[in-house]
Amino acid sequence: MSDVILSFDEVTVQFGGVRACDAISGQVERGSLFALIGPNGAGKTTLVNAISGVYKPLAGSRVDFHPDGKATENLLGYRPYQISRLGVARTFQNLGLFMGENVLTNLLMGRYVHEHTRLMEGGLFTRRAVKRELAARAAIERVVDLLDLREVRREPVGDLPYGVQKRIEFGRVLAMEPELLMLDEPMAGMSVDEKQAMIRYIYAAQAELDMTVFLIEHDMGVVMSIADHVMVLDFGQKIAEGTPAAMQQDKRVVAAYLGTELAADGR
Ligand SMILES: Nc1ncnc2c1ncn2[C@@H]1O[C@H](COP(=O)(O)OP(=O)(O)OP(=O)(O)O)[C@@H](O)[C@H]1O
Ligand SMILES: [Mg+2]
Repeated sequence: MSDVILSFDEVTVQFGGVRACDAISGQVERGSLFALIGPNGAGKTTLVNAISGVYKPLAGSRVDFHPDGKATENLLGYRPYQISRLGVARTFQNLGLFMGENVLTNLLMGRYVHEHTRLMEGGLFTRRAVKRELAARAAIERVVDLLDLREVRREPVGDLPYGVQKRIEFGRVLAMEPELLMLDEPMAGMSVDEKQAMIRYIYAAQAELDMTVFLIEHDMGVVMSIADHVMVLDFGQKIAEGTPAAMQQDKRVVAAYLGTELAADGR
């Protein structure tokens, strides 16, 4: 029997006359690496925004999160912060780091999702508050080790190379300890070496922290090497899904996606 962590049905998002996602349905297996690909403007980020509560899909859409051992949650209607608390974390396509703050502070931001601290309680050294603080520190230290950030932990993020900044952004969502991690082009703009390193870190995080990964990625080579399952969007429509090998052979995918890549390469 398959074990599904996320299912979405007929997800439709409309911006004026543009149907950015047109009745997209799919399922993500627990523990897998699910890749969402497609040309620019295909609707990839919009789908993630709909799932994570940033955009409100049209009536008839469904998004169900099935946390391990807990009741299924219908995510529609929840605010983004509520969805992160349920265990679904996501990154944004553009770096959303605090460039003037150091690495540790940026990682700690990811933990705020766990802070239910009422303001009244905030300043007191209650046993609960201390316990939470210790849990936060332990989570951050784990991320620092996992992502090899020990040497730069006190550096302002703005002084670090772009590839390291993308890693910190990844670390910040890891610090939330989500069950489902959604990454929007975590390797955009990276060199081949930086991408290789990032792939290793994604694997390490998945193995160590027992997470499911939903990855938006432009680089077909990356997707082919790491995805268990691939879904392909084009102009707001799902045009294909299956194994990476099957997608590579699929005529619609080649036409829509590889076609544009080849065209871009031959410029
Ligand atoms: N907030 C918005 N308001 C209006 N139109 C939008 C908005 N967000 C996205 N769109 C439009 O929806 C379509 C899908 O955009 P989306 O950002 O989801 O594509 P994408 O597949 O993530 O592309 P990219 O690879 O460039 O990141 C595009 O036509 C885009 O212009
Ligand atoms: Mg996008």
